[in-house]
Amino acid sequence: MNIVASKLPRVDIPLHYRQLGTVDIGRLLPRVIALTEEDWLKGTRGRRNAFPGLEQTKTINLRFVENLDDPLTSYSLPDFEDWKALLCPICDQAIVSYGYKDPQLSKVMLTQLPAGTHIKPHTDARAGNLYTHKIHVPLVTHRDVLFYSRGVPFHIPLGEAWEVNNVDMHSVWNQSRIDRVHLIFEIYDAALIRA
Ligand SMILES: [Fe+2]
Repeated sequence: MNIVASKLPRVDIPLHYRQLGTVDIGRLLPRVIALTEEDWLKGTRGRRNAFPGLEQTKTINLRFVENLDDPLTSYSLPDFEDWKALLCPICDQAIVSYGYKDPQLSKVMLTQLPAGTHIKPHTDARAGNLYTHKIHVPLVTHRDVLFYSRGVPFHIPLGEAWEVNNVDMHSVWNQSRIDRVHLIFEIYDAALIRA
């Protein structure tokens, strides 16, 4: 892994996952359900995260980073303004246990994993992943959607927020008949930036 000195400290990444509790997805859900295939394809055509393993996913990126090695280079995509009032309360609820003084979102995306598809085993290998917590919130899911972390399978239930270990080997399998949709975000505490 290419370690670049960020001014952020490294975070404590869980072995497999960390259950962060339930979140209220009630306001966001109708907007996500209303997304059309064209919305997903438009987002995917302009995606910033076209990484190996993700070929079968569709993604609407809302925040991303200029430099994958440093979360402090994050920026908003134009659609973030439209979504933030629905997304930010969920992110705030999910991260309560971290006790952050100045939480900042480095990446935010909605990702669809179509029925019967998978994300191949891979690691999120760039150094920036060491400085943020990676959090998944299922918005549309099924018990036959399994995340594998270091070979251990688990299902993230609807309406819960779980941090996952994305720096070690992981994959996702959707063996259901529905298109899985997750809100995925990465977060750090700007109060911990070193001078
Ligand atoms: Fe990944």
